[in-house]
Amino acid sequence: MTPMIVEHPLLQHKLSILRNKQTGTKEFRDLVGEIATLLCYEATRDLPLEEVEIETPITMAKTKVLAGRKLALVPILRAGMGMLDGMLTLLPAAKVGFIGLYRDETTLQPVEYFCKLPQDIAERDVLVLDPMLATGGSAIDAITQIKKHGAKRIKFIGLIAAPEGIKALHEAHPDVDIYLGAQDDHLNENGYIVPGLGDAGDRIYGTK
Ligand code: PRP
Ligand code: URA
Repeated sequence: MTPMIVEHPLLQHKLSILRNKQTGTKEFRDLVGEIATLLCYEATRDLPLEEVEIETPITMAKTKVLAGRKLALVPILRAGMGMLDGMLTLLPAAKVGFIGLYRDETTLQPVEYFCKLPQDIAERDVLVLDPMLATGGSAIDAITQIKKHGAKRIKFIGLIAAPEGIKALHEAHPDVDIYLGAQDDHLNENGYIVPGLGDAGDRIYGTK
């Protein structure tokens, strides 16, 4: 599957501010949340609806509500946490799991340090959150772990991806749909996305 790039003008505008190295921590954090909300809107387009009958102040009416599909959000720590509140704005009843991974700075391989998922994750549609898809190693490992817990319907939601990461994630998990704000040019020799936005976790939390 080719990834879904969300071209909405509001999202693209916010992404440009996010990329700017002059953007400070507070604004960066706010924007990551706002962009996550816009991505959430697109990534939930296929949620099933069912008809219900309600009484408005005027008359009886047949209208539509969500058909009770259960959702789980799984941010990849740390940077994925920056997207969580923005997603919960539209999906307040979703359960939340956490996978802690960091990239070893020399090997670029993901190292897992935490995993806590909803006990009924196998029955849920899972949205995995991470702003950056670089080599793809972190997303691939997180999704492998989530599948081991029985989940079958999984989507990945990110802000910016390198072509290398999209290809690797698609090859490892072809069943996972990918939603993004942008596909960038390439990875540099240090595994950073070019042009990218730098280190998402450091910019959200003001570290380094
Ligand atoms: C960043 C980012 C992804 C990962 C992407 O996390 O948030 O999780 O790198 O790179 P990959 O596709 O090559 O695996 P990082 O390891 O910097 O940890 P952090 O979120 O704790 O800062
Ligand atoms: N992780 C980030 O935060 N930024 C990149 O460009 C690559 C990995």
